[in-house]
Amino acid sequence: MSLIEDLNWRYATKKMNGNIVPQEKLEYILEAARLAPSSSGLQPYQIFVISNKDLQEKIKPIAFDQSQIIDASHIMIFAAWDGYTLEKIEKVFNKTMEERGLPNDTMDAYKNQLWSMYEPLGQEWQANHAAKQTYISLGMAMAAAAEQKVDATPMEGFIPPQLDQLLGLDKLGLKSSLILALGYREEANDWLVKMKKVRTPKEEFITEIK
Ligand SMILES: Cc1cc2nc3c(=O)[nH]c(=O)nc-3n(C[C@H](O)[C@H](O)[C@H](O)COP(=O)(O)O)c2cc1C
Repeated sequence: MSLIEDLNWRYATKKMNGNIVPQEKLEYILEAARLAPSSSGLQPYQIFVISNKDLQEKIKPIAFDQSQIIDASHIMIFAAWDGYTLEKIEKVFNKTMEERGLPNDTMDAYKNQLWSMYEPLGQEWQANHAAKQTYISLGMAMAAAAEQKVDATPMEGFIPPQLDQLLGLDKLGLKSSLILALGYREEANDWLVKMKKVRTPKEEFITEIK
């Protein structure tokens, strides 16, 4: 199947059947999420993978009682840094230099330029910027899931501060931005499964400037 066929197959599954996603498929999806690019390569977020039913029960009310939270095999929580610091940026760049066998100061000019841009924008802007990076990873994970014929529901429908407190993310300097529920569709009880996929027509969506 081509990527386009996979993307037509996928939909934001409303009712999952509780079946478990095999470990190798889960790892494939997580690897796609990990390989997502990010601004300046900072990867300013982490992913938490939950398959604990008691915890899923606690998350459900935080996610407006959406049933996928419980019926999913696993839920992925994307949690972004709550701001940038020069130390955090330095740590990432130093690791990159080390893995590439380059001197630590190779990226000094870029690092200083980046920090002089980010610092005055303040913590809220920085946290939003970090959260935006998680959406790229979400996209990669959703495409990988579709390729693996695993259903996936992207979810913003939850109360981030409550989830952060439940999972202790606030103490880790993280803020949840997204949930991706992974599992399998229960066709008989899913109102969306047979509905036409609706998107803005190509002519309206794309403007070619030659
Ligand atoms: C960032 C994001 C957040 C979303 N939040 C929810 C959600 O909380 N619950 C839900 O059932 N669907 C959610 N959706 C699904 C969208 O409504 C859905 O992707 C969109 O209507 C397009 O339909 P399709 O994904 O079935 O092609 C979300 C989608 C995205 C990309």
